[in-house]
Amino acid sequence: MQTIGVIGAGTMGNGIAHVCARAGFDVILCEVSQPALERGLAAIAGNLGREVAKSKLTSQEAADAQARILPASSLEALAPCEFVIEAATEKFDVKAQIFRTLDSFLAPGAVLASNTSSISITKLAAATRRPMQVIGMHFFNPVPVMKLVEIIRGLQTSQATFDAVKALSEQLGKIPVEVNDAAGFVSNRVLMPLINEACYAVMEGVATPEAIDTIFREGMAHPMGPLTLADFIGLDVCVDIMRVLAEGLGGAKYNPCPLLVRMVDAGWLGRKSGRGFYTY
Ligand code: 3HC
Repeated sequence: MQTIGVIGAGTMGNGIAHVCARAGFDVILCEVSQPALERGLAAIAGNLGREVAKSKLTSQEAADAQARILPASSLEALAPCEFVIEAATEKFDVKAQIFRTLDSFLAPGAVLASNTSSISITKLAAATRRPMQVIGMHFFNPVPVMKLVEIIRGLQTSQATFDAVKALSEQLGKIPVEVNDAAGFVSNRVLMPLINEACYAVMEGVATPEAIDTIFREGMAHPMGPLTLADFIGLDVCVDIMRVLAEGLGGAKYNPCPLLVRMVDAGWLGRKSGRGFYTY
């Protein structure tokens, strides 16, 4: 396999394209919005530049990696890809439509991986005529730095598909961990209730965001406290994932904290909007 398609040039998509190109693969980076595509390419250049500054890459290696990324604005451009990683909007209908379209023209052996953080791989697989070749490949932000790839097997995913994705993750320098398909998988099933509970602690006046984050940084050696992390992930993403947990697993403990919902309603989405638990 030489060419990997990546769909979506947002934070996750551009990070995935970065690590694939850095590992020597040709990448076709597909993004429908031209400004978003340009922002994604600029982010990759900036992040490769950081790696050069830290002597993790030579400037020639960074230039070669950037040159291996071919930008595209339509899904049809992904026709030569044997492997596609989708990192589009976190909405089932959007992802299912992308998978159906790709399924109609990609080579029969091509694998479709989704970087979804919580949507059912089993349901996505069922939207295609190649359910055995559909799998979850959940990367973590910032993708060039975080080692984990959570590999999610749908009910229909074949062993050959799983083995190929595990091998690819290792080629990308990542540490793959296998989980089965269930709401939130493992990462977000455990992380999001922690973040949600931290929001309740703020709402109830138990402590300030700064105090809560200091407790986790200095008491539990987390690199970021839960509320800084929530701002980093995006408060809208946190609410969406809590709703997936509430629907998929049931029980009041998964309801998004009312304060979190109000902040999202106000347009306070965290770092990307300039305001969340902190101002940026
Ligand atoms: N590309 C390349 N390199 C990057 C980078 C990027 N986008 N962002 C940071 N780096 C590098 C820096 O150059 C630096 O390199 P060095 O170790 O050689 O000096 C290193 O990463 C650390 O960065 P900084 O010195 O700028 O800052 P920090 O030490 O504060 O680290 C952080 C930043 C890596 C983001 C750290 O704060 C961290 O690990 N935070 C937690 C991140 C986390 O939990 N991510 C998961 C989110 S959940 C998710 O993604 C799943 C989704 O489904 C919700």
